[in-house]
Amino acid sequence: MAAGVLLFVAVNLACLSVSGNLASGERSFSIDYKNNYFLKDGKPFQYISGSIHYSRIPRYYWKDRLVKMYMAGLNAIQVYVPWNFHEAVQGVHNFTGGQDLEHFLDLANQTGLLVILRPGPYICAEWEMGGLPAWLLQKPNIILRSADADYVEAVSNWLAVLLPKMKPWLYINGGNIITVQVENEYGSYFACDYNYMRHLRTLFHLFLGEDTVLFTTDGNTDKEMTCGTLEGLYATVDFGTDTNITKAFNRQRRFEPRGPLVNSEFYTGWLDHWGDQHAVVDAQKVSRVLGEMLAMGANVNMYMFEGGTNFGYWNGADHDTKFRSVVTSYDYDAPLSEAGDPTEKLLAIRDVIKQVPLIELPPTKVDILITFTLFQVGNISSLLNTLSTVGPVKSQYPLTFEEMKQFYGYMLYRTTLPRDLSEPTPLISPLNGVHDRAYVSVNGVFQGLLERDTMLVINVTGQQGDTVDILVENMGRVNFGSKINDYKGLLSNLILGKDVLTDWKIYPLDIDGAIAGGWPHSDSQKSFPAPQKDPSVGPVFYMGTLQPNGLAWDTFLKLNEWTKGQVWINGVNLGRYWPARGPQLTLYIPGPLLSTTLPNNITVLELEGAPAHLRVLFMDRPQLIVEHSLTSVAERTAIYSVSFFYCILFFFVADTVNKLYIYYVMFSYSICIQLSEIICHNKLLKM
Ligand SMILES: *[C@@H]1O[C@H](CO)[C@@H](O)[C@H](O)[C@H]1NC(C)=O
Ligand SMILES: *[C@@H]1O[C@H](CO)[C@@H](O)[C@H](O)[C@H]1NC(C)=O
Ligand SMILES: *[C@@H]1O[C@H](CO)[C@@H](O)[C@H](O)[C@H]1NC(C)=O
Ligand SMILES: *[C@@H]1O[C@H](CO)[C@@H](O)[C@H](O)[C@H]1NC(C)=O
Ligand SMILES: *[C@@H]1O[C@H](CO)[C@@H](O)[C@H](O)[C@H]1NC(C)=O
Ligand SMILES: *[C@@H]1O[C@H](CO)[C@@H](O)[C@H](O)[C@H]1NC(C)=O
Repeated sequence: MAAGVLLFVAVNLACLSVSGNLASGERSFSIDYKNNYFLKDGKPFQYISGSIHYSRIPRYYWKDRLVKMYMAGLNAIQVYVPWNFHEAVQGVHNFTGGQDLEHFLDLANQTGLLVILRPGPYICAEWEMGGLPAWLLQKPNIILRSADADYVEAVSNWLAVLLPKMKPWLYINGGNIITVQVENEYGSYFACDYNYMRHLRTLFHLFLGEDTVLFTTDGNTDKEMTCGTLEGLYATVDFGTDTNITKAFNRQRRFEPRGPLVNSEFYTGWLDHWGDQHAVVDAQKVSRVLGEMLAMGANVNMYMFEGGTNFGYWNGADHDTKFRSVVTSYDYDAPLSEAGDPTEKLLAIRDVIKQVPLIELPPTKVDILITFTLFQVGNISSLLNTLSTVGPVKSQYPLTFEEMKQFYGYMLYRTTLPRDLSEPTPLISPLNGVHDRAYVSVNGVFQGLLERDTMLVINVTGQQGDTVDILVENMGRVNFGSKINDYKGLLSNLILGKDVLTDWKIYPLDIDGAIAGGWPHSDSQKSFPAPQKDPSVGPVFYMGTLQPNGLAWDTFLKLNEWTKGQVWINGVNLGRYWPARGPQLTLYIPGPLLSTTLPNNITVLELEGAPAHLRVLFMDRPQLIVEHSLTSVAERTAIYSVSFFYCILFFFVADTVNKLYIYYVMFSYSICIQLSEIICHNKLLKM
């Protein structure tokens, strides 16, 4: 964890959980419908649980996070299993290394934590495609999360691998899994297909046995509860601090007249999308509402207790009115931070659970530990031989990522200009078919970018026969709602002036493979011209070698004045950065990633434009929020006041011309608030 110190003094806790076997040694877990609680080994049992996702935490920190959750007074954890994390390639299952789910369960069991398992197959979780593997989309009309034959076949094959592995970990079989969730908030999906849910119920019974407590979780409305619940699956609800808990549990009672009260996702915080304000949920509110629920005898899982990180390409996205991608950090304003540090919220929750080990919070001042300059390695087109070892596929019209069988990351689409364009000519994505961002160059000159739902036209210039390079970025598949069939790449033709662009060469890019194979070498600088004064525009790779300097603890990488891109350290893909849009300004670097003996290799793919200084900073604190970070309150107030004053002045002058005074005041007030926010926001981003 970051420089902060964490001390648990009163270690000798009254353990709420596990190992309370009956004298007979008989282990049992069931629902007491008569008395409205869970029964563990024949005794009443109430869980106080927290969500943690092993897929968002490096394996070497699993134990650390679990111990901290136990020390916070929890007796259980709730865990999602992301299918696509284990079966990225159809039929190839990975349960080793960072995917070693059984090792994670074992660590939890050793720590004394019970497990509420949520194996999906769909999980939402703000995770790429809600945990579904993108290869499902190779069936063009597949109806996900329904009784669609192709979907059901894939699901059955997966559950036939996963669930038998989980069976020995059931509490009743000597492990720590007490309950298992079927699907995830299914009632909020449009399909409302009971045949699908019945099929899942059959599979879960088949592979886990009839005695396992299976449950569903749904949002707190009648419609969701109606479509999401099924006989034989215990119905639970989820809701946050702004809900009337009596009303919410009354709704659970209508669907489940007897049995324990359960809030399966009590929101301790919330997610961020790029361009959002950083979401926070008040610690006092969380602890107060938690206390009220526990006092009612309810079982509560806090979502999240430890959020972690969307490393690599694992972030999901939402699509309500427009496509919005989830940021790299999944800190979630949770009681344990992204880096596993306890927060004020953890202390407030602890007080409610009423066990009192002392915890010293880490200091809040942000220090820059190291500043470090990168150099340019080359652009995509000069590196194609390295990055696209299989070479291009030729196609008259563009193919999607799914058709190319490259599901994540970046792909290059190349064609030529069909005629001379001496005047700026619009390049249009008429059907909004750029999923999700396209970086356009003509003969090496960056022309700009197209962005799904946001920027559907740019102007380009060039000569007939010039090479048009379009690098397309997959920003993470939609993980919620009816738009989860989220194909990536160029989904429809691009039109240049009056011409449809055709005759493409499409290059799959394996950037992660190249970097894992040791590219780029630190002597790449020699083969490439001296660092250019003029910072490049458009997609360019940079790298740097940080000599080992004893830095081996958690740090946060800040790419100040860089625009948008992806970062790798020692071969590990840390995720996307996008300080130009915010609110996240730093990327979490787990300490063990940095070597104390070997030179550390940092590779950056900057997509739009690097700053001239080419510097990156290692800091000892995260900055997930633009406000309240480095600027003083006084400075913010000053910026605010000055811009506000000018606005008022402007509208006052306008008012002398027109006498609709009150409307002007109202209008100017709202405009000025927004303007001041924008000015503050932009200024702070520059710091
Ligand atoms: C499984 O994933 C790990 C990374 O967590 C990787 O090191 C390993 O090579 C993968 N195994 C297979 C069989 O793909
Ligand atoms: C889980 O832990 C308990 C008690 O510490 C132990 O008896 C049991 O064997 C463990 N289960 C597994 C599957 O390792
Ligand atoms: C919550 O709802 C119940 C039942 O509808 C009502 O009696 C109670 O006043 C509500 N509580 C709050 C804090 O609004
Ligand atoms: C890439 O770099 C090469 C070599 O420096 C240069 O000739 C070319 O114009 C650049 N292409 C792009 C798309 O920036
Ligand atoms: C493209 O160029 C035309 C003519 O110069 C101009 O009117 C138009 O605003 C430009 N469009 C964009 C999207 O830049
Ligand atoms: C960094 O790359 C160099 C080769 O360029 C390699 O020798 C070194 O081991 C790498 N460092 C780490 C920590 O993997």
